[in-house]
Amino acid sequence: MTCSTAGTGALVLAAGKGTRMKSDHPKVLLPILDQPLLYYVLSALEPCRGTGRGKISSVSAVVGHKGEEVSAYLSGSWPSVIPLWQHEQLGTGHAVRIAREWWSGFDNLMVLPGDVPHLQSSTLEALLADHAGSGADCTFLSFSAADPRGYGRVVRSGSAVSIVEDRDATEEQKLISEVNSGIYIFTVSALRPFIDRLDNENAQGEYYLPDLVGLMVRDGRPVNSTIASREAEFRGVNTPEHLWSSGESIRREIVEGHLSRGVRMMDPSSVWIGPAVTIEPDVSIDPFVQIWGKTAIARGSHVGGFSILRNMTLSEGADVVSHAVLSDSRLERGSRAGPFIVLRDGAVLGEDALAGKFVEIKKSVLGKRSKAPHLTYLGDASVGEDTNIGAGTITCNYDGQRKNPTIIGNRCFIGSDTMLVAPVEIEDDAFTAAGSVISRTVPEGALGVARAHQKNIDGWSSRRQRRESKEQ
Ligand code: UD1
Ligand code: CA
Repeated sequence: MTCSTAGTGALVLAAGKGTRMKSDHPKVLLPILDQPLLYYVLSALEPCRGTGRGKISSVSAVVGHKGEEVSAYLSGSWPSVIPLWQHEQLGTGHAVRIAREWWSGFDNLMVLPGDVPHLQSSTLEALLADHAGSGADCTFLSFSAADPRGYGRVVRSGSAVSIVEDRDATEEQKLISEVNSGIYIFTVSALRPFIDRLDNENAQGEYYLPDLVGLMVRDGRPVNSTIASREAEFRGVNTPEHLWSSGESIRREIVEGHLSRGVRMMDPSSVWIGPAVTIEPDVSIDPFVQIWGKTAIARGSHVGGFSILRNMTLSEGADVVSHAVLSDSRLERGSRAGPFIVLRDGAVLGEDALAGKFVEIKKSVLGKRSKAPHLTYLGDASVGEDTNIGAGTITCNYDGQRKNPTIIGNRCFIGSDTMLVAPVEIEDDAFTAAGSVISRTVPEGALGVARAHQKNIDGWSSRRQRRESKEQ
């Protein structure tokens, strides 16, 4: 797959085993908050993409260990990112070598690891500008680490520079605090001959990409290094402890970002918000709330305590009272949900609609100003406007084989404890009597009654008392 587009390609290395995670899942798919590790690096690349000079025109990811899972994630969430297979993981240099056909058409190649979730777009933009301005064959980012253990050390002596991996470093080299970030840009015409010169004669028996720096410098090629100031940005995630601590600091950054933009929280320390969530100002969030996926919350909305929202859309002034589990659904302007409610799979509460206590709504629309205040299940239903759904109403939507629709019109009154045996329709202005099992259309304006007639037996109670006293 030779790419003829010039410009800069970005290659994310995501094939490694992540041995230190001790997980059956590929490291780059382990989650931080609700998104895989890989999401964060790909998101940081996003604003750098474009066609001009100093922009990234195409992104690929090297996959290998459990590569099917990683490719499936890419095709589902990042369809423009091209997976390239590294069947045997022989090191970061080998990963770049196997991708040669893809990158050889570019002018420049950026290489970055898939396990650095704190990386900022502005850093990558600065690196791109630096490389474009310097005319170097390689520009790499280093930083000064408080604890350099595990990183490749940047060894400088006069104008000579090389990178020595932790496991290959001498005791003296191990004291060096300047370390390799794992992020580089190479000029492709220079990379081409050098990539074949890497060997694997080192402690790990791997082809190390950072060895290119020493090789190029020794050959008198211009190599440019930028020492970045913010160490935290380059922290790699290699262990479950790293995953947790990165998650904790990303959680904090996200929450603080929302606070600074006018979102109110009573107890920010108990609120969890994913990186893809958008929240407008003047929203208030109570303690112990989780908001995930592509949830979007508009001005004036409120999310009550102990609620979990995923891929939700809340229009202006929507109110999630509390204890709600809401996913893939929509709350229109001024609608109210909860407490103790489940909305899922495309449920819609229309403007000023109410779905209250102990209600579950799946793949159904509750129209404007309609109400289901208590104890209701609506599945595969459409409810018109100004309709009241009485307590205990259930759409019997599943016949054991398929899901069937229930259609309820405008201004209807569904009596408490109505069983709506789908497929069934309640036309506009119709009523159902409480406790009915409705299995046929209730026509416009009619009352559907489907329950046994009541029979009253006079004097039954006193006769029972007499019978019981005789028996004693
Ligand atoms: C690497 C660098 C080190 C640097 C550090 C910064 C090497 C040899 N070392 O070390 O100098 O300080 O990053 O975080 O590059 N990968 C592949 N295929 C492979 C091996 C690795 O795709 O065959 C991927 C991994 O999935 C990972 C990235 O490359 O995303 C880095 O690999 P990792 O093993 O984490 O390297 P480090 O030991 O952290
Ligand atoms: Ca790493």
